Amino acid sequence: MNDTHSDALVFFGATGDLAHKKIFPALQAMIKRGTLSVPVIGVAKAGWSIEQLRERARDSLEKHGGGVDPEAFAKLTSLLSYVDGDYADPATFQALRKLLDGAHRPAHYLAIPPSLFGKVVEQLAQAGCTQGGTRVVVEKPFGRDLQSARALNQILLGSFDEEHIFRIDHYLGKRPVHNMVFFRFTNALLEAFWNRDYIKSVQITMAENFGIQGRGAFYDPIGTVRDVVQNHLFQVLANLAMEPPARTDSESIRDEKVKVLKAIPAVTPTDLVRGQFRGYLDEPGVAAGSRTETFAALRLSLDNWRWQGVPFYIRSGKSLPVTCTEVVAHLRRPPAVYPGCTPQHDYFRFRISPQNEMAIGLNVMDDAELGIGQTNELLASRHEGGNEMDAYERVLTDAMSGDRTLFAREDYVEEAWRIVDPVLKADTPVHSYEPGSWGPPQTSQVAPPEGWYDPNVSV
Ligand code: BG6
Repeated sequence: MNDTHSDALVFFGATGDLAHKKIFPALQAMIKRGTLSVPVIGVAKAGWSIEQLRERARDSLEKHGGGVDPEAFAKLTSLLSYVDGDYADPATFQALRKLLDGAHRPAHYLAIPPSLFGKVVEQLAQAGCTQGGTRVVVEKPFGRDLQSARALNQILLGSFDEEHIFRIDHYLGKRPVHNMVFFRFTNALLEAFWNRDYIKSVQITMAENFGIQGRGAFYDPIGTVRDVVQNHLFQVLANLAMEPPARTDSESIRDEKVKVLKAIPAVTPTDLVRGQFRGYLDEPGVAAGSRTETFAALRLSLDNWRWQGVPFYIRSGKSLPVTCTEVVAHLRRPPAVYPGCTPQHDYFRFRISPQNEMAIGLNVMDDAELGIGQTNELLASRHEGGNEMDAYERVLTDAMSGDRTLFAREDYVEEAWRIVDPVLKADTPVHSYEPGSWGPPQTSQVAPPEGWYDPNVSV
């Protein structure tokens, strides 16, 4: 451990859903990989004992962590301690301070609703737990509009420097999202056509074939645009559209991403179609008559030298036919030379999940040699996973080691909200759609001229 590595991990929300689904599995994986050997302190108000928290960790690993690894679990329980208490009570933070004795650079991970950030940060400061190289790691959603995001930034910046604030977007921890930038800037082939001269349109689909899975209380005040578009899918877009960074340090990379967002004008109501799957209103936690979208399709433009005139499309939703996240960039059509053959648009396809694939679609002679041509794919890579880091393991490992590359910076978050803020406030229509369909028929109003590419995924 070097002197920039956090020397303790405190996580607020230790008895919550995120801890159960993602954080304990990430902690066990970090221990197995040898990247976690510092004290881990869970904080929550549940009236629990440390034994109950350990049992919860065991259950989490059994259900979501690929099983309990006896050696790693023994190490996790030896590192784990617990503070049970109210986030408004100074005694909670005095108890934490005592447990942190000897740690000079803890990382405080706020896996709690943003409405509690202010309270916790203030109490941490009053208890003397924010000194020196202390970091704060915060979960999404980071605000619900531009104004609330600015207010949250003010709260965090009141006690921490920007360089010590780590805003999580777990999509950035996914290897294929990460690899997108690497792939672009290590291949001459792609960069040669990756611009307005050759690319006709770019589309990003994030489809989920399940509903809101009992998360009505969380989802209903938020909806698709806030839940996944403003954060995860804008990050994918930024990786696709950014210029090569001058250097590979975190700030040079994050500067390029912010430049992409700065070039995007705010979305207008005619560029957004919202949908809600039939049956959503019967879900527990959903308000009567809710107008929250569970589907969104939108059109964006990038007003810069590389992309001006190339539309970018995003669609995402719950209860769609498949679960898949995929980018497809269509190239301009070549001129028709052979009578009877209208060549299809070549395309570049980048699948993020369920598996990582990169492919280029090209026209070749059709099998029957009728001279009409057909599209074949050149597959650059197919990656099924393996021992790679899960997104949460990657972002927590990076936060502990102080690498900010995969975290959203203050200016980035505010630019992302600027783009969707007006249209979120415009209260555009919400159209219903059948579960298992590709959203409401009105989606065609913002469809790419080449049509939406339907991921071929077996369900
Ligand atoms: C979360 C959203 O941030 O991302 C969920 O709140 C969504 O609604 C999830 O299902 C998708 O992430 P992943 O990693 O499961 O593809």
